[in-house]
Amino acid sequence: MPAIKIAPSFLTADLAHLGDAVRAVEDGGADYLHLDVMDGRFVPPISFGEIVIETVRRLTRLPLDVHLMIAEPERHVEAFARAGGDIINVHVEACERVDDVLARIRALGPRAGVCVSPPTPLSTIDHVLDQADQVIVMGVNPGWGGQQLIPETLPKVRELRALLEERGLATEIEIDGGVKAANAADCVRAGAHVLVAGSSVFNDQAPPAENLRALRETIASVEASA
Ligand code: DX5
Ligand code: ZN
Repeated sequence: MPAIKIAPSFLTADLAHLGDAVRAVEDGGADYLHLDVMDGRFVPPISFGEIVIETVRRLTRLPLDVHLMIAEPERHVEAFARAGGDIINVHVEACERVDDVLARIRALGPRAGVCVSPPTPLSTIDHVLDQADQVIVMGVNPGWGGQQLIPETLPKVRELRALLEERGLATEIEIDGGVKAANAADCVRAGAHVLVAGSSVFNDQAPPAENLRALRETIASVEASA
């Protein structure tokens, strides 16, 4: 079983001290940094854009996993590639021709990811699984950090994992939203390769490195029993 990756998301971090937050998860052993871009159209809130990605790029060498929750992502993928995104993820619900958008991302250099929101069936991305380096299965409806994982999204991860194995594809599955130490083992058992963790890493209860350690320990217990 390849090592499971953890990708902290910064939505609930103290952005006044973004550099400290980056350093804390870097020291805590994060594998990717997950950056949530929201435009106020595809999802109601507006978060941040390419200037913040560019800023984070200057702070770290960790891969930047850019989650575009934006309408018409094809108009912006070039800017996010230029800003330093290593994986650029677009929502299938936001793309007219998701195959073209994924091809465009790869042509620009980054790895390409496609995301499915909880109500969106896997059939909508079936034709692009071999064009995606990663699929983000949303565990919550996109737009806000700190929500509860919707349990029905785990069977979706399981189904996708089976489909990828059947086709011999190396596409990775990332689960995003509601992941915490109490359900991380279930996410891994369902077949996720990458876990996004926002509020379970950045919260008032413990420092990020300690929260990451708790997640890592749960994951390690599944890895050891695999
Ligand atoms: C939700 C975002 C997620 C979220 C993760 O719209 O895409 O990345 O911030 O945060 P938690 O782990 O708190 O659900
Ligand atoms: Zn996200």
